[in-house]
Amino acid sequence: MPYIKIPKEWEIPENQATSESDYINRRKFIKDLGLASAGTLLFSGSNACAQERGVEKQLVPYRAQKLAAKNNTAFTVKRQMTDEVVAATYNNYYEFTTSKSRVWQKVKKFRARPWEVEISGLVEKPMTLDVDDLIKQMPLEERIYRFRCVEAWAMVVPWIGFPMKALLEKVQPKADAKYVRMLTFLDPDMAPEQNNARLPWPYFEGLTLAEAMNDLTLLSVGIYGHILPPQHGAPIRLIVPWKYGFKSIKSIVSIELTDQKPRTFWNTLIPREYDFEANVNPNVPHPRWSQASERMIGTGKRLPTMIYNGYGSSVAHLY
Ligand code: MTE
Repeated sequence: MPYIKIPKEWEIPENQATSESDYINRRKFIKDLGLASAGTLLFSGSNACAQERGVEKQLVPYRAQKLAAKNNTAFTVKRQMTDEVVAATYNNYYEFTTSKSRVWQKVKKFRARPWEVEISGLVEKPMTLDVDDLIKQMPLEERIYRFRCVEAWAMVVPWIGFPMKALLEKVQPKADAKYVRMLTFLDPDMAPEQNNARLPWPYFEGLTLAEAMNDLTLLSVGIYGHILPPQHGAPIRLIVPWKYGFKSIKSIVSIELTDQKPRTFWNTLIPREYDFEANVNPNVPHPRWSQASERMIGTGKRLPTMIYNGYGSSVAHLY
């Protein structure tokens, strides 16, 4: 008897969620880039049952390294928290694979220690810090944030980190600093997809200085009470919860203050789909994914998209 996969309610094929021509164009784009089959980029589902045991084992060493951080009750979310195993098996981390459900299996060679972060550019006090020294110096707190991907999936997870503002104040931005440019590590031995020369590695992102200084902007070093596992961007990544997930760059090695608007990875690849600002907005249509609603990973529940992902009171004044 042939195996027939009955898709879960949330596993709608992308060609039902977008117009046929956009779907075909995307397939072509991916093919042109030489990436794996387009199917792996689609809704691969969490496959929680099949993966649960494996990822539970993978998470053991990270769960053992707890981070002491008080929950900041100012950031409560009236939504069900996403299960840790679901979040750890549904990742976008293109340095390792284009398959969301397989990132956790592909990170075995990744080493997050020792790790240095360089803060440079238009600052009075440039510095390079070992990530563990940085963690010791910074005011760690836990914040439960909504997190929304442009692919219209969403989750609610407890990040541990510190406001980016605290680090920027330490290095003292100069008066002409207007933007912050961030880079991910470059090491194709650890991250095999970085051998794909058609993509402009390392991953790069940027914010305006005002966005970077906003109270919501977090440099995260932990999740669910412990250090970040590789699939979530160990040892340190950005979280900007009012923007689509691709802005939240993982495994940062460099933070540079500039007076020029930085280019960004996805904007360089597909400018008409990924703009610099990338604020969550149900009224700005995306060529491929309707932004009117979002699908919670794990439960498949559909919820209406909120402008600025529900964080307008903190950030609307910036635009
Ligand atoms: N950062 C790097 N370096 N590489 C990536 O592929 N993917 C982005 C973002 N940061 C990505 C990245 C995208 S598209 C999303 S949606 C989020 O990470 C996913 O974060 P998560 O896997 O922790 O949920």
